[in-house]
Amino acid sequence: MNNLRDIALAGKRALVRVDFNVPMDDAGLITEDSRIVGAIPTIEYIVTQGGKVILCSHMGKPKGQRQEKLSLKPTGEYLAKLIGKPVAFVSDCIGQEVAAKVAAMKDGDILLLENLRFHKEETDNDPAFSAQLAKLAEVYVDDAFAAAHRAHASVVGVAALLAEKAPGFLLQKEIDYFHKAMDAPERPLVALVGGAKVSSKLGALLNMLGKVDRMIIGGAMANTFLKSQGVEVGASKVEDDLLDAARDVLAKAAEKGVAVFLPVDFVAADAFAPDAVTKIVTTKDMPKNWMALDIGPASVLLFKEALQDAKTIVWNGPMGAFEMDAFARGTMALCQAVAASHALSITGGGDSNAAVKKAGEEKNISYMSTGGGAFLELMEGKTLPGLAALA
Ligand code: 3PG
Repeated sequence: MNNLRDIALAGKRALVRVDFNVPMDDAGLITEDSRIVGAIPTIEYIVTQGGKVILCSHMGKPKGQRQEKLSLKPTGEYLAKLIGKPVAFVSDCIGQEVAAKVAAMKDGDILLLENLRFHKEETDNDPAFSAQLAKLAEVYVDDAFAAAHRAHASVVGVAALLAEKAPGFLLQKEIDYFHKAMDAPERPLVALVGGAKVSSKLGALLNMLGKVDRMIIGGAMANTFLKSQGVEVGASKVEDDLLDAARDVLAKAAEKGVAVFLPVDFVAADAFAPDAVTKIVTTKDMPKNWMALDIGPASVLLFKEALQDAKTIVWNGPMGAFEMDAFARGTMALCQAVAASHALSITGGGDSNAAVKKAGEEKNISYMSTGGGAFLELMEGKTLPGLAALA
């Protein structure tokens, strides 16, 4: 893969694919900005090199329809405030108005294009649409790690049409950290996996078994693993169609000598509600109509022990329904344990990163990935189309 620093940028137009798909509240205020903050080094570098920065991104899933609430305009205004420089905006990503604005750009200018997905050709990776985007620039820079698993026009199609291309600094950092953690880790390497569904993590679990020394499984997905071992989990969320798959993961782990840690107790609740009646029960004593909404204190101790001498930790998915304070202790405790460890620690996925922020431990995690689906696909061992396109 090329290096952005090897491309002469002065006077050139650089089309920079970023992922400004950030959460916003009802008033249109950005509630989590790490993807915007993460793109700044690349943007500022191109500006200081005298290049023209043409930013493009998607926001949400408008499916080819213009939807004002999915406009990227607020993200441009937000970026301008952060960098203290004007960020011009154009209300489309292709067409005459865009061409005119691009033609009027001076070296060091920044222009943000409107949501690529207002055109369905973006997600179709339509060649004519890719060609229109490619026409805007001489250089292509991909800094959208979180969208690198999408074979879309702005990720894959454009990259094939511009000879001068490179990953941006954020994308490069994401790849470097992931490589360090998964391909050349200092051992023990421990995976901490949680979240609701085994189904969405099965590929990642199977691939990780070939790499990790220990695997800790929490969150609702642990219920499926426990049930597959004959444990009664009451009214807890379980994927009954994945009991065999869970058994298979455990058998493969045993074959490979990977120690798997499952919860030994739960915070059980009589309802999925913040004010539910709760009690701590061992996994042997789950009442019939109750549900596990967090790991219990004995599981916290066990999991912390499994993390204790880790040199590398990869974490994806919470230990319980941490968005409700009553069920946040397990996730918070593990988050603190990861933060306090002497390991290279990497978290990925919106929930894990939100948990790190809730625990106030951002500064103590080695790297928080900006990717959700892209991070998971790397965990699955897949080649991301966006990375292949830069090769
Ligand atoms: C994400 O939020 O994971 C990325 O922005 C990709 O978004 P998508 O799932 O809509 O393609």
